[in-house]
Amino acid sequence: MNQAATSVGNSAAHDAPAYVQHAKLKAWVKEVAALTKPDRIYWCDGSQAEYDRLCNEMVASGMLIRLNAEKRPESFLARSDPDDVARMEDRTFVCSKNKEDAGPNNNWIDPVEMKATMNRLFDGCMRGRTLYVIPYSMGPLGSHISHIGVELSDSPYVAVSMRVMTRIGTPVLDVLGEDGFFVPCVHSVGMPLAAGQKDVVWPSSKAEKWIVHFPEEKSIWSYGSGYGGNALLGKKCFALRIASIMAREQGWLAEHMLILGIQPPNGEKRYIAAAFPSACGKTNLAMLIPPNALPGWKVTTIGEDIAWIKPGKDGRLYAINPEAGAFGVAPGTSSLTNPNCLDALNRNVIYTNVAMTADGDVWWEGLTKTPPAKLIDWQGKEWTPDCGRKAAHPNARFTVPAAQIPCIDNDWENPAGVPISAFMFGGRRSTTVPLVTEAKDWVSGVYQAATMASETTAAATGAQGVVRRDPFAMLPFCGYHFGDYFKHWLDVGAKLAHPPKIYSVNWFRLTAAGKFLWPGYGENMRVLKWIVERCEGKAGATDTPAGNAPRFEDIDLNGLDISRQQFDELMSLDKDLWKKELQDHDTLFESLGSRLPAALSEERKRRGSNFA
Ligand code: GTP
Ligand code: SPV
Ligand code: MN
Repeated sequence: MNQAATSVGNSAAHDAPAYVQHAKLKAWVKEVAALTKPDRIYWCDGSQAEYDRLCNEMVASGMLIRLNAEKRPESFLARSDPDDVARMEDRTFVCSKNKEDAGPNNNWIDPVEMKATMNRLFDGCMRGRTLYVIPYSMGPLGSHISHIGVELSDSPYVAVSMRVMTRIGTPVLDVLGEDGFFVPCVHSVGMPLAAGQKDVVWPSSKAEKWIVHFPEEKSIWSYGSGYGGNALLGKKCFALRIASIMAREQGWLAEHMLILGIQPPNGEKRYIAAAFPSACGKTNLAMLIPPNALPGWKVTTIGEDIAWIKPGKDGRLYAINPEAGAFGVAPGTSSLTNPNCLDALNRNVIYTNVAMTADGDVWWEGLTKTPPAKLIDWQGKEWTPDCGRKAAHPNARFTVPAAQIPCIDNDWENPAGVPISAFMFGGRRSTTVPLVTEAKDWVSGVYQAATMASETTAAATGAQGVVRRDPFAMLPFCGYHFGDYFKHWLDVGAKLAHPPKIYSVNWFRLTAAGKFLWPGYGENMRVLKWIVERCEGKAGATDTPAGNAPRFEDIDLNGLDISRQQFDELMSLDKDLWKKELQDHDTLFESLGSRLPAALSEERKRRGSNFA
């Protein structure tokens, strides 16, 4: 980075500014600085002026490109290293003292050994760089559902992204006071600079990447990657992996869920929380615009990726969105699929790995039907429609403040949260799983969620499109043993006077010819309407081996070109496929050993006889 343009560390002697009152925080920052040896330490205040200054510095260094000021005001493009484009599940570790506690769902290394590795890697890893101290709150400041983290990072891209995605800076230190609890998070791109060495546009470590969690300490160490969930540690590392552990200890839930509000034309507004694996439609569903054929229905957004959910005194569950922004998948987002989202992307956005037009606008696959004749692709190379490459990376993302989402709910920052009427769980399944079913009770709903599966997507590195069990859409995110997690869900539900209803959905079923059987997107409102009417005790259903299911006449398909026969295909249960499906459930359950709750094995037996 251009030294002259670099933020002056506001504590050259590595001492915290005078306003920092938290002794443990000050000591920890000092300790990490002594290990990582940055040139400067900079405590983020979270102001707009600071954000603007850091962005300008990155424009000067080449890490950000300022986009067209008329078309995309105050917006920037970052191009990552081609080897640093997504979460890395095989480099993610949960280092509990006891291996068993991490479960078969996590990579594990002994914490003593891992600490030694971290101490070796982080020794001097911030040389030539600035260490940014980023105090952040997950959830509205001061909400009884919120928690605080502090990320120490040598990436200015992380510092500005964290300001969009969370609430950062001095107001957080005020809440933290002298001895408040915080989750310590250390992040380095893993590329120290020797004296005089010129930086690259996207520093990262080619040699090794690690995303490491210490459950007992509730600390996070991330090395080598600057991208998304690997580097913005408030998101998957804290708000899901560490928070899921805290939630179990404290009696709440930390989930990979969107939260939306539904206002029927007449009747009570309801909130639904829905879990889908990465790049399987949470952002789309959270911002859904109901079709014209369903006049009077209105959908509002509370969150689009993560939900923190606590039992209330009234026996209901209350949810907040712990984030303050969206880090959403760009490809496929268009005025047809998600007009609300597109509207939010007009200004104040950090784009990563999308393509750029000659006049400094952005483009990605699916944004327009016909691509521009010429583009600069996500790697900075010239691109034409016939060149055989994708213009945007399939996991290209935008970072946008949630407040800019046009359909954001008035209560999205309500510290009390919103009451949840129903949970939905959905995977990407081209066969087997019907459009929607309703669990008969909490246990059967937990079974449905525990056994869900999905075809993998570009949101994580590795094989794409492979069906894998992804319980609760939490496979990459649950910070402890899945058997204990299922038990926790059963326990939470058992204590609720008014447990939400639980639904399984699948927008992704294909015809034999490989076309989607269900139009999806805004038309998913028809399923939401059925769910709301079930909650009101109005809509009908029939009993099937997979749960209560709508018949053709139970679901509002008015204005949609779907025949009874097509609907029946969408809802059909193929006995042979379901026998295979149940065998896969057995494989999952066997992997959990003695930690599998008995209630789920009993539900498995019931389902076996249902499908016999
Ligand atoms: P993360 O941010 O990775 O957790 O993902 P997300 O669940 O928010 O993903 P997002 O909403 O961005 O999903 C994008 C992908 O889902 C794109 O490939 C969309 O085309 C596809 N998608 C979303 N909704 C639908 C739908 O209703 N039907 C179909 N067929 N595809 C959908
Ligand atoms: C996901 O992969 O589920 C995301 C993106 O939401 S990331 O923050 O990179 O994990
Ligand atoms: Mn996600």
